[in-house]
Amino acid sequence: MRTQVGIVGAGPAGLLLAHLLHREGIESVVLENQTRRRVEERVRAGLLEQNTTDVLERSGVGERMRREGLTHHGIVLRFDGESHRIAITDLTGRSITIYGQQEVVKDLIAARLAYGGRILFEAADVALEGFDGRSPAISATHAGERIRIDCDYIAGCDGSHGVSRGFIPEGALTHFERQYPFAWLGILARAPPISPELIYARHDRGFALFTMRSASLTRAYLQCAPDEDLSAWSDRRIWDELQARLGTGDALRLTEGEIVLRGVTPMRSYVCEPMQYGRLFLAGDVAHIVPPTGAKGLNLAVHDICMLAEGIAAAYRGDASLLERYSARCLKRVWRAEHFSWWMTSMLHPVHGDSFNDRLQVAQLDYVTRSPAAAKSLAENYAGLPYAADDR
Ligand code: FAD
Ligand code: DHB
Repeated sequence: MRTQVGIVGAGPAGLLLAHLLHREGIESVVLENQTRRRVEERVRAGLLEQNTTDVLERSGVGERMRREGLTHHGIVLRFDGESHRIAITDLTGRSITIYGQQEVVKDLIAARLAYGGRILFEAADVALEGFDGRSPAISATHAGERIRIDCDYIAGCDGSHGVSRGFIPEGALTHFERQYPFAWLGILARAPPISPELIYARHDRGFALFTMRSASLTRAYLQCAPDEDLSAWSDRRIWDELQARLGTGDALRLTEGEIVLRGVTPMRSYVCEPMQYGRLFLAGDVAHIVPPTGAKGLNLAVHDICMLAEGIAAAYRGDASLLERYSARCLKRVWRAEHFSWWMTSMLHPVHGDSFNDRLQVAQLDYVTRSPAAAKSLAENYAGLPYAADDR
């Protein structure tokens, strides 16, 4: 098989790249090791920056998102039993949208299949070669056969457990990493949201986040231990803990409902530099991870892909300079988001026994909710800094 761009991974990054390249008249093949059903059902991110919704709309895959997505203009920070609203749109002129990542993935798959684009699901044992020279190739086992796809460029979009980064020679990449002594227990429940806006709560029992997917689906997260045993969490215990961390007695009581999904998400910060080697380009979670507190992971992946699609399109027109600068163009925004995500995480998650840290967290929350300048700084990072001229 031969194509112009071989893409590993049918997450938001890989699918969006295939879509943007198609719009430039560039052909690609996407290889994904899971089934289509699994990819479409995986519940993860929910909060999209306006940068992201703009890219989806401008490229013709935003129609359902516009209909079903929930537009938000603020968030609530809770600490010491009180709520404080950060007026994101008033402070930045930008809004945010709640629309599940798996819905974005469904829309991108539907668009791709409608124009006859190729996605090879259940492709096992993906291996990459030749990308340090001029003849990159991807091989994989698909439908019981070993296949080989020759291409001009390879995009590694295979997420935090992906394999593409591992084909780059050792020593060519520098890895930056930070671990956190906590994780998130996330649930999805058939229950109407109790607040029209997201609530980020710092409580001495631990952080909690209230969010949603629709008028009848609540999503929520609880700070827990990295090795938390899910079987120790009955529905009753989850609701009690959410009520305790998010509520103020009767003033704010979550509506409870059937918990239809639960899982533990580890917390990690990670960046590899550079995000390219020869004709292999890394994009999204395979190149960088942020803890989910700032809701930046998917949004960063979308920015990487815009830079990559633009660079590849320019290279086919005879100018390879943007593609050569792909990594540098991405890393500025990556590190801004790494800092913001680390900062939000550090401000909101108490660490057991560290009372000095407790006081710092409350002092910082007090400052960002009182000072218009500090609130604006939080808001512009949260809403997403506009794709800047220095990305060019
Ligand atoms: P992925 O979505 O992981 O996609 C990678 C794809 O590659 C997958 O389909 C995988 O099956 C496939 N793959 C892996 N290995 C191979 C292989 N060897 N061969 C072939 N295919 C392979 N981000 C936000 O912006 N906003 C949020 O609100 C937000 N909330 C989050 C909440 C939680 C609980 C979690 C866990 C994450 C959250 N994120 C959020 C982060 C976001 O989900 C990720 O950043 C995003 O999924 C990255 O997209 P990706 O395409 O790079 O990787
Ligand atoms: C969601 C997830 C996040 O990590 C976040 O910061 C905000 C919202 C969500 O799943 O809706």
